[in-house]
Amino acid sequence: REIVLVGAPVNDGAGQKGCVMGPDAYRTAGLGETLKALGHSVTDHGNVRLVHPGNVAPPNPVLRNYETYIGWTRALHAKAADLGSSPVFPIYLGGDHSMAAGTVSGQARAAAAQGRPLFVLWLDAHSDFHTLDSTASGNLHGTPLAFLCGLSGFDDLLGAPLEHPVSPENVEIMGVRSVDDAEREMLIGLGVGVSDMRRIDESGVGTLLTPFLDRVREANGLLHVSLDVDFLDPEIAPAVGTTVPGGATFREAHLVMEMLHDSGLVTSLDLVELNPFLDERGKTARLMVDLTGSLFGRRVFDRPTRSF
Ligand code: ARG
Ligand code: MN
Ligand code: MN
Ligand code: MN
Repeated sequence: REIVLVGAPVNDGAGQKGCVMGPDAYRTAGLGETLKALGHSVTDHGNVRLVHPGNVAPPNPVLRNYETYIGWTRALHAKAADLGSSPVFPIYLGGDHSMAAGTVSGQARAAAAQGRPLFVLWLDAHSDFHTLDSTASGNLHGTPLAFLCGLSGFDDLLGAPLEHPVSPENVEIMGVRSVDDAEREMLIGLGVGVSDMRRIDESGVGTLLTPFLDRVREANGLLHVSLDVDFLDPEIAPAVGTTVPGGATFREAHLVMEMLHDSGLVTSLDLVELNPFLDERGKTARLMVDLTGSLFGRRVFDRPTRSF
C-alpha cells in the first residue's frame, strides 16, 4: 500500500502559535525517508490549503477562529474522503487537533461508502470532547471528537448535519489524564471507550488495546489512529502547547504502535499538535517519526528469536 503524506498546517484551533510548522518539521525529521527505508512507497501531496468559508456567526462568543475551523474541516474532509476511497494509506501531518474534524469525518465518509464501520483510536492526554456550547477555553482543538461522534451544534462545519458519524462505542481514547467536567458527563453518557493513565498503569497498554483491536477485526472495520503529541510524557515529548505530566512512556508508545502494525487494521493516521517552536533540537519531531516507523513495521528482529 502506497503511503500518502498530507500536510495540514492548522493552527487556529490551538491556544498558541507554532503548530503551523508541524508538517515541515515532520518532513525535516525524515518521515518520508524513514518510511521508504522500511520498504514502503511514499508520496508527499504537499499541504492542503485553507478555503475561507466567508462570514459565519459563531454560536458561542467564546469560540476562537470559528470560521477557519469551518474552512479547514471542509478542505480536509474533501481530501480525506478522496484518499479514503483510493487504495492508499494517508498520514495527515498536523497541525493542531482541530484538523481531525476534517480528516476523520472524510475517512468515515469513505468507510461508509465501502459499507464498513470506522473505528477511532484517539491517543491523547485530553478527550477533545467539548461541544461548541460546553467549551470554556474556546480553543476548538478541544472539540473535534464530539463533532465526529455526531453531537449536536456542529452543523456549520460541513454545512449540514454530519452524515457519517463515528459510533461512540467504536472510539477508544487512550492516555487521558485531563478531562473537563462537561466532557466527562458526555463521555460516560455516550459510552465512549476510555483508557485513562490509571488503567494503563494497572493493566498495561497491551492488555487494554487487544480487545479493542479484536472488535475492529470482528466488525471488518477500518481503523483511524489520531496521535496527539501530548499522549506522550512531556519529558520525552516537550514540543506541545498543552503538556500534562504523567503521560505515556517511550516504551508504552512504541508498544502501541507495534501492536497496531501487527494487527494490520490501521488504514489512516493523524500526527497532531506538534509545536516545533517548543521543541528541543527536534527531539519530539524525531520521536513522532520513530513511532510512525514502528506503526509501519520497524522491529528489532524480522524473525522469531529462540526463547525459553
Ligand atoms: N479541554 C481543554 C480545552 O478544551 C484542553 C483541550 C486540549 N486539546 C488538544 N487537542 N490539545 O481547552
Ligand atoms: Mn488532542
Ligand atoms: Mn454517504
Ligand atoms: Mn491533547
